[in-house]
Amino acid sequence: MNIMLFGAPGAGKGTQAKYIIDQYGIPQISTGDMLRAAISEGTTMGMEAKGFMDDGKLVPDSTIIGIIKDRLSQEDCKDGFILDGFPRTLAQAEALEELLKDLNMSLDKVISLNVPDELIVDRITGRRVCPACGASFHVEFNPSKVAGKCDYCGGDLVTRKDDTKETVENRLVSYHEQTAPLFHFYKDKGVMAEIDGTKDINVIKEEIFSILG
Ligand code: AP5
Ligand code: MG
Ligand code: ZN
Repeated sequence: MNIMLFGAPGAGKGTQAKYIIDQYGIPQISTGDMLRAAISEGTTMGMEAKGFMDDGKLVPDSTIIGIIKDRLSQEDCKDGFILDGFPRTLAQAEALEELLKDLNMSLDKVISLNVPDELIVDRITGRRVCPACGASFHVEFNPSKVAGKCDYCGGDLVTRKDDTKETVENRLVSYHEQTAPLFHFYKDKGVMAEIDGTKDINVIKEEIFSILG
């Protein structure tokens, strides 16, 4: 099953991806997590991406498309994958079409998590993430069982550098200008399922499972 999670920063893509991994055993492909890993490893690509991410701007398409080409070609994507945070521009969506065609694959479902901007800032500023496995928690809305520790791997939780009020405002601008228009691209393809992303995390999880079957 080849799935894409679509939505604004803080819409809940990473949170729901973890549940889908557990239920369906397919890997999450989060370009944001991959870029953060490259930054912490100090690679050239990571260093180039860092400035864009810290400013809440999109990393150039050529970098992102290169990362995705390598990742989707790997063996563990043969039985399905969850795209999280990719594509984010029309050029990325078109590159994905080409790549999937070359790999003899297609997208089965795009799940759009719809959350209004006014709820996003509180979600982002209260988020705590696990750098080891990419899990997301929230100090108020989804606390980890042990404060400061990841439920999945026990790693130490941190606040992402771009999770400030100022940066999230830039991220929302990038989202509305460059990414939101892709909604129609996928709706026109007939693969779009919309979910009210303001509901309880577990309610959304069950709705996604019933869409995916
Ligand atoms: P990325 O890491 O993808 O960040 P993002 O898209 O801004 O999305 P987030 O990870 O912030 O949100 P999410 O939807 O995963 O929410 P989460 O589940 O954590 O990208 C970071 C940067 O990398 C970009 O700004 C860009 O620079 C670069 N980049 C990445 N991909 C790129 C690409 N393809 N092209 C170009 N540049 C790229 O949830 C958020 C919080 O809300 C959590 O605290 C969670 O606990 C809480 N929450 C979740 N669901 C609910 C709920 N239903 N109710 C209440 N709280 C909830
Ligand atoms: Mg995320
Ligand atoms: Zn973890």
